[in-house]
Amino acid sequence: MYRDHTCGELRIANVGQKVTLAGWVQRSRKLGGMTFIDLRDRYGITQLVVEADAEASLVETATSLGREFVIQATGEVVERQSKNPKMPTGDIEIKLESINILNKSVTPPFTIEDESDGGEDIRAKFRYLDLRRGPLQSALALRHRMAHEVRNYLDSKGFMEIETPYLIKSTPEGARDFVVPSRMNPGQFYALPQSPQTFKQLLMVAGYDRYFQIVRCFRDEDLRADRQPEFTQIDCEMSFVEQEDVLNMFEGMMRTLFKNVIGVDIPDPLPRMSWYDAMDKYGSDKPDVRFGMAIHEITDKVKGNGFSVLDDAAYVGAIAVPGGAEYTRKQIDEITEWVKRPQVGAKGLIYIKLNADGSVKSSIDKFYTPEQLKAIAEVAEAKTGDIIFIMSGPQKRKVQTMLGVLRLEMGGRLGLRDPKVFAPLWIVDFPLLEWSEEDGRFYAMHHPFTAPKPEHMDWFNSNKKEDLERVCANAYDFVLNGNELGGGSIRIHNADVQKRMFEVLGIGPEEAEYKFGFIIHAFQFGAPPHGGLAFGFDRVCALFAGKESIRDFIAFPKNNQGRDVMIDSPSEIDQAQLDELNLDIRPIAE
Ligand code: AMO
Repeated sequence: MYRDHTCGELRIANVGQKVTLAGWVQRSRKLGGMTFIDLRDRYGITQLVVEADAEASLVETATSLGREFVIQATGEVVERQSKNPKMPTGDIEIKLESINILNKSVTPPFTIEDESDGGEDIRAKFRYLDLRRGPLQSALALRHRMAHEVRNYLDSKGFMEIETPYLIKSTPEGARDFVVPSRMNPGQFYALPQSPQTFKQLLMVAGYDRYFQIVRCFRDEDLRADRQPEFTQIDCEMSFVEQEDVLNMFEGMMRTLFKNVIGVDIPDPLPRMSWYDAMDKYGSDKPDVRFGMAIHEITDKVKGNGFSVLDDAAYVGAIAVPGGAEYTRKQIDEITEWVKRPQVGAKGLIYIKLNADGSVKSSIDKFYTPEQLKAIAEVAEAKTGDIIFIMSGPQKRKVQTMLGVLRLEMGGRLGLRDPKVFAPLWIVDFPLLEWSEEDGRFYAMHHPFTAPKPEHMDWFNSNKKEDLERVCANAYDFVLNGNELGGGSIRIHNADVQKRMFEVLGIGPEEAEYKFGFIIHAFQFGAPPHGGLAFGFDRVCALFAGKESIRDFIAFPKNNQGRDVMIDSPSEIDQAQLDELNLDIRPIAE
């Protein structure tokens, strides 16, 4: 044994004990002939001290220690002269009798302390050093704890964890597949799963009526703070269930996680909001309901005053920002420029200020009387002191989405989006299908295995676009603080309905057979009614810790270009490998 205690566990009660610790030298400094060493491991930091009158060889060794040397140190626990209340071990230090250097280290490229001086790139390149830092260690510890709680909960409910393959055929979840060439089948490729969707449904057909898996998924899509090309899902499926059963089961799981991991009580039952309400009120299918500032439609209130921008709009919406009547011209101009950026895409921004003295001031004073402006303000539920921001356009959902983005921005600026406040809810009643103007066809809003609501089957079987657009699905998303943490649906379990779904999506019988023959066939052998969902595990971990970026909750993540800069991947492969795979690389354009 190299140690009998960790660097995080000794307290005042241990004074007088002789102990041996092992770890990394975070810092070493000399003070009046004494040497102080901060020794770190993943449990914490303990201060070691070599007295000025200690044996010469010990003083010499202590002096020679560099940052990140790995040492074993033995000594007596003593009470500190000057205590450090910020450290759990801050009441004591170890008066050393011996130091054994287990390994040296070259000078690390950045300081390995809670607050590091290293930039993002250098820390990514030396991820194993970054992982020695406290914040990353707590992030991974939280992830571990979370996985443990998930398994406990689902096991207690009779779920079986079953692994599904990684080398599969493409699953259509909307993103691009990562593909893997097959040496034994030249010219053919596996796809890495975007999720185990089809396999978990086949497990239902096979009778494993409560399945889960904490599983890696792969999607070749554009990356953001909450998206990685490989990420982890808590993937679940149940048989003989309706939507209500699934929501209750997983609401229970989230409630248990909130309570057991971060000690937070969430409402019981959780609020639910229809997709239509979420879009109308918040301009988002993942609304942040930690604050109000809801969107109000004012289309009828603004028409007919000769202001063509609003007269010609199919939809006009407004949000009321508390305290905004105080904004200066410059501030309003800045917000207007902000919404005109391509990321938001607005053409402009109209405002009405409800001044404290009861007067109104707006950018449309020319067209509307103060009474009319006040009437608009009333519909927008604005109060004295607020500013109302108005947007309009030919497409209702597009305007709502832009207002939704502005709402989040203003909520952020007003400090209404505290990461330590948790407002989870279910979004339900999603449309089954989404029409793409660009491609002139329908896409599945969730995925092609999602069942239409039974009461909407007539519309589903109709060939009219407006009927199909009205079909709702038994689909649901778990949303937290403006983030989609999970989603799922009740599935189609009837081969004919599944065939009809492919037809609606413009997937012909041959293509359906080629791509999904296995699941259509399976449905002919007694598929039970079933449904499920998947949570984004990395996102759940990050949000529980009050962070938006999932990167620090993954031990070895990729950067925004999808690269692992530590191992320098992706990389070229040599000619022999290409030959073996029967692949040629075309010259790559600059
Ligand atoms: P969906 O595609 O909604 O559903 O994914 C489920 C959850 O996975 C998380 N997620 C991601 N997390 C990090 N990086 C990504 N690139 C990424 N993509 C998705 C999100 C999301 O809510 N098979 C269905 C589930 C089902 O129907 O049961 C599915 O994969 O938090």
